[in-house]
Amino acid sequence: MTETLLSAALNRRNAGRPPVWMMRQAGRYHSHYQMLKAHSDFIALCKQPQFAAETAMGPVHEFNFDAAILFSDLLFPLEAMGMGLTYDPGPTLAFHVQTLADVERLSGGAERAQWMGFQAEAIRLTRARLRADKGLIGFVGGPWTLYVYATAGSHDKAQQAMGGLTNGVYAAFNARLLDLLAHNMALQSRAGAENIALFDTAAGEIDAAGYGRHVVPVLAELLARFRALDPATPVTYYSRGTGPAHWDQLKGLPFQCLGIDWRHDLAEVLADYGDHWCIQGNVDPEWLHLPYTELERRLADWFGRIKALPAELRRGWICGLGHGVLQRTPEMNVRRFVTLQREIFG
Ligand code: CP3
Repeated sequence: MTETLLSAALNRRNAGRPPVWMMRQAGRYHSHYQMLKAHSDFIALCKQPQFAAETAMGPVHEFNFDAAILFSDLLFPLEAMGMGLTYDPGPTLAFHVQTLADVERLSGGAERAQWMGFQAEAIRLTRARLRADKGLIGFVGGPWTLYVYATAGSHDKAQQAMGGLTNGVYAAFNARLLDLLAHNMALQSRAGAENIALFDTAAGEIDAAGYGRHVVPVLAELLARFRALDPATPVTYYSRGTGPAHWDQLKGLPFQCLGIDWRHDLAEVLADYGDHWCIQGNVDPEWLHLPYTELERRLADWFGRIKALPAELRRGWICGLGHGVLQRTPEMNVRRFVTLQREIFG
């Protein structure tokens, strides 16, 4: 069987070109996605596996990314718990969880993961259409990020979520969520995802001490439950707005790859953490709005700096952005990112 560049990097033994993919590579900047959206709404694209596979394949065909990512959304587990979910285009939940009585309205547990059966089918259909040398990534939201959405409806309103950390709401929510989420991850890996990403977009909304007290133990519990179901599939933990003070508290956890945002110097992170984790990232998504030649110049410089590092530091590097592709990104800039990466790393 062909080992994908993604798997080689996740095992920190990639001697070749680093794999490249981008969060939100299937999204609104891309005419293929817009074309599908003209005939179907976002939820239908996610829930009809043929459509989800077509959506996920679009950017792989068009830009030659080294991996596809499941086309879905991280809020479906909240829908499975009974919170109602619509998109316009941002997500809206039918109600927010504020009290223990609200949490008691929610269902949870392992069986509720069956709700995400459409993700398993989408992964199977995507895998069947992907070339053998391309990777396939599944994903779920981090428990903290899901909690913030459940209580505040958006990750930038995290302040509304803080009260629940001490009044029992967060703990009660997690008691319902964690088995569901661990089984959701296993449902995706069993369907053929060779890597599961845990997107903790709201992680940086809490300070490093609070992160250690409230977020890390829950992540540890989630990963332990996932590992009991699937000991082998590599997990990538992406967080936004975090730094060494957060990451240092994650060192004992059973995940393999750390996804970092654009605020960090990649060479430094590879030097400081590359012997512990694979590192994924981390070009600033805003760069892709630069004029074409300016983007080329900056990327050539950035890639050149990473190429100048000792090769063993790159064995576990997964190349991409520090967050998702932005909505108005020109397609030609995405294409140039991928072609230039191939020219420079060979
Ligand atoms: O290509 C891919 O990366 C796969 C698909 C994907 C989507 N959402 C599709 C989507 C992935 C991996 C996500 C993850 C996700 N969803 C995150 C974590 C990563 C991140 O971006 O921080 C979060 C926080 C969400 C929740 C969510 N879903 C938000 C905040 C929004 C609205 C923002 C936006 O970009 O419009 C969504 C909707 C959404 N998810 C869209 C897509 C393509 C846009 C829907 C539309 O076209 O109407």
